[in-house]
Amino acid sequence: MFELIPYQKFRDTPSVRFFDITINNSNARDLVFHDGPAVSPNNTDRGNWQFYLHPHQEDNLLAVSGGRTFYLVNFNWEQPFHMVRLEANGAILRIPPGTFHRSVSDRGGSLVLNQAVRTAQATIAREFRVYSSADIPKLKQITSYGAPAPILHGFSDLEDRRAA
Ligand SMILES: [Fe+2]
Repeated sequence: MFELIPYQKFRDTPSVRFFDITINNSNARDLVFHDGPAVSPNNTDRGNWQFYLHPHQEDNLLAVSGGRTFYLVNFNWEQPFHMVRLEANGAILRIPPGTFHRSVSDRGGSLVLNQAVRTAQATIAREFRVYSSADIPKLKQITSYGAPAPILHGFSDLEDRRAA
């Protein structure tokens, strides 16, 4: 399963935030900036959702600023479809290898730091391949409107804001 990992906050005030965000064993770092409500990977021209899946990489994702919603699908999980909110100052999202994932930023965009863990077999070409739900019937079925709804994590703030 995926995990939401807390971390040590040395100082957390409106003007100063000072955190230890170390992920032990991380041996690769990537930084993904979305300017506005970007979708990653982008949908196909026909509107089909696309996903990343890393065979040999674990992602550990921290929102540095803004907010982003992750869509996770893993055929081996009892509940295969989850949606997880990631927001600045929140937990680190750990996505295990073999999990389809895509993300959509909030209207204000987001900056996400990934402290990845790659095994020796990882190659850029294999780890960053894009998979279209149009080509994988099971993926399409699980994420279609007729299927059981995804399990939501961390949406309470958003719901509160909508209700306000
Ligand atoms: Fe990833």
